[in-house]
Amino acid sequence: MELKKEIIERVNQLEEKYSLMGQSIESYLDGLLLSNYLTYWDYIQLDTLLTLQNPKTDFPDEKIFIMYHQITELYFKLSLHEMEQLANNGKNIQSNGHDLGWKESLDVNLFISRITRINRYFESLTKSFEIMVDGMEKEQFLRYRMALLPASGFQSAQYRKIEICATDFINLVDKDIRDRFVKNPSSLEEMFENIYWNKGATELATGKKTLTLNQFEKKYGVEFLTLAKEYQDKNMWAKYKSLSEHDQKNPNLINALKELDVNVNINWPLMHYKSAVRYLQQNTEDIAATGGTNWQKYLPPRFQKRIFYPELWTSQEHEDWGKGWVETNVFRLGKS
Ligand code: HEM
Repeated sequence: MELKKEIIERVNQLEEKYSLMGQSIESYLDGLLLSNYLTYWDYIQLDTLLTLQNPKTDFPDEKIFIMYHQITELYFKLSLHEMEQLANNGKNIQSNGHDLGWKESLDVNLFISRITRINRYFESLTKSFEIMVDGMEKEQFLRYRMALLPASGFQSAQYRKIEICATDFINLVDKDIRDRFVKNPSSLEEMFENIYWNKGATELATGKKTLTLNQFEKKYGVEFLTLAKEYQDKNMWAKYKSLSEHDQKNPNLINALKELDVNVNINWPLMHYKSAVRYLQQNTEDIAATGGTNWQKYLPPRFQKRIFYPELWTSQEHEDWGKGWVETNVFRLGKS
């Protein structure tokens, strides 16, 4: 039987691919003959995925709580995946060097496209957060949460990694003492000692770091610092500043960055805060948060004022951060 021209062409391409690596195409063709057909369930590792929901109690709603956290972590992972490409000029860092035949350079369009993707992930998370706010029975939640102590979403490392990859590290230093670090440039280690989130995990009564925080630092402290060092010159703000002056003025790019700031630092935190209010606030007193913290004072964005891109906002906008109007006045700008 005569082989079609298209097949011969591909065999030649394969021959070239493998011989470049000193590999024999015959062996790989043997492998192809022997390998099974791919199935949906194997490809997405469905069986493994569906074994990962293991509640600590028999309250049915605990499964919702676990799965929604897992869904969120997957969206966080998608966001980090986009950030990694921006940091590495369009490349996937795990790339094995095989030329896939598409452009790998950071231009303004790639920048906008990847930030828009992250914005879409966070918009999806913000909308779906109602699953937490309204989708579980309070009575069940208040019971099964006691079996989860001292674990807290506070310990989500990907959430902090998104912040580290999004902005200059100085913007993550506790805002009340940040000026000191601006005036006397300090090492990443010193800034890390004063990271904003310490305030969210300090015992109200004693001022000591909570167990939740101690465990978190023990597991991820070194990883965070390593990432912060790696991203000093390639976080999203550094990458933005590396564009030409002309590109930096691109209104769609500026708007995408501002949307990201609002999505990550206002809209998601507000929805999250809403869930804390729904479950942990009672008429007379607040139910102690998982880590024994003053979540009422810590969680609202208007108190935290975390801002990734302060230079893109006016001082009035800094002042009004998280006070509601940003959403209607700024977030929808540029969207018809
Ligand atoms: C019923 C739902 C939820 C409630 C009542 C709740 C409550 C809280 C509270 C009280 C804190 C303050 C720290 C502490 O003392 O534990 C916190 C922090 C946090 N939670 Fe949740 N949470 C909920 C769902 C989630 C989900 C689904 C995620 C997704 C990963 C999440 C991620 C976080 C993060 C990242 C922080 C740290 C926030 C910051 O440092 O600004 N939470 N949560």
